Amino acid sequence: MAPNVAIMGATGAVGSEFLKILEQRDFPLASLKVLASSRSAGKTLPFRGDELTVEELGEDSFDGVDLVLSSAGGSLSKKFAPIAVAAGAVVVDNTSAFRMDPETPLVIPEVNADDVSTHKGIIANPNCSTIIMNVPVWPLHKVNPIRRIVVSTYQAASGAGAAAMQELRDGAKAFLTGEPFEPQALPHPAAFNVFCHDSEVGEDGYNLEERKMWRETRKIFHCEDIAVTATCVRVPVLRAHSEAINLEFAEPITEQQVCDILAAARGVKIVDDRTSSHFPMPIEASERDEILVGRIRQDVSRPDGRGIDLFVSGDQIRKGAALNAVQIAELL
Ligand code: A2P
Repeated sequence: MAPNVAIMGATGAVGSEFLKILEQRDFPLASLKVLASSRSAGKTLPFRGDELTVEELGEDSFDGVDLVLSSAGGSLSKKFAPIAVAAGAVVVDNTSAFRMDPETPLVIPEVNADDVSTHKGIIANPNCSTIIMNVPVWPLHKVNPIRRIVVSTYQAASGAGAAAMQELRDGAKAFLTGEPFEPQALPHPAAFNVFCHDSEVGEDGYNLEERKMWRETRKIFHCEDIAVTATCVRVPVLRAHSEAINLEFAEPITEQQVCDILAAARGVKIVDDRTSSHFPMPIEASERDEILVGRIRQDVSRPDGRGIDLFVSGDQIRKGAALNAVQIAELL
């Protein structure tokens, strides 16, 4: 039977992508409710040739709802996901609210689809940088266990929401015309700049995004041994994240073996043309489902053959958020 679905945060960057993906994948729906703040109540959103009217999120929003796709921020998920579950819905939550809760599965369908069956009402969608890294890293790890990952991210404004994307556009215009510009959604000017990811920096010097990358990877891989160190920064890109990934394997592995494994991997597209210097770029990863992988090369600093370098780009709003959540819903 087709489910009654509600989208929490339907007017946001990820929320609007949910609508697009449900439409593109012809997701079976008995009904679709679009929920946002009182600021958006009454607005309409186009869907399958119709207009859906946005309703204000409230405690009674989930009566008769079977599935909630949630992306309105962690504190709202903490409050409303249990209410939705009590009303009989399953919640696929795109925020960090439940990701590390031992009762909540954290799922990338290409990696640990089976974990979906352990849910108790909530399934968490991993952090976007974690998804984009692990779609290509998992198939390599399965063949030759990875001991350590060193990753540097190049993260788009989209990860901070629709307001940050608009701020990048406005900031770029202001920069080019010499106008003064005060950022609001991000802590620093995004245009023509690079800065430490806008999440809290802990006493150990790691920001929260960097911590998510190692904690979530261990949980998704069911592997507490894997060591991950990350440096996460924002770059002036609108919607796809890129990452430089250095992998240390348990056993020697060749560049050709890595290419062969990735060529057969789900959710990955190899873009690795050395002759024309054509490698993954956020501009080409945007609006695509696959993670683009290239710059595949032996790490010359490891003469034992156990090191590989990669560069990847993936659409943060799509596979990094909305698409992954809809794929989880499809598994349900
Ligand atoms: P609204 O557009 O009405 O503010 P983004 O991640 O792009 O910033 O989007 C956040 C989403 O969460 C938007 O849909 C936003 O709705 C929604 N949201 C933010 N605050 C609330 C709230 N207090 N109640 C319900 N929805 C909210």
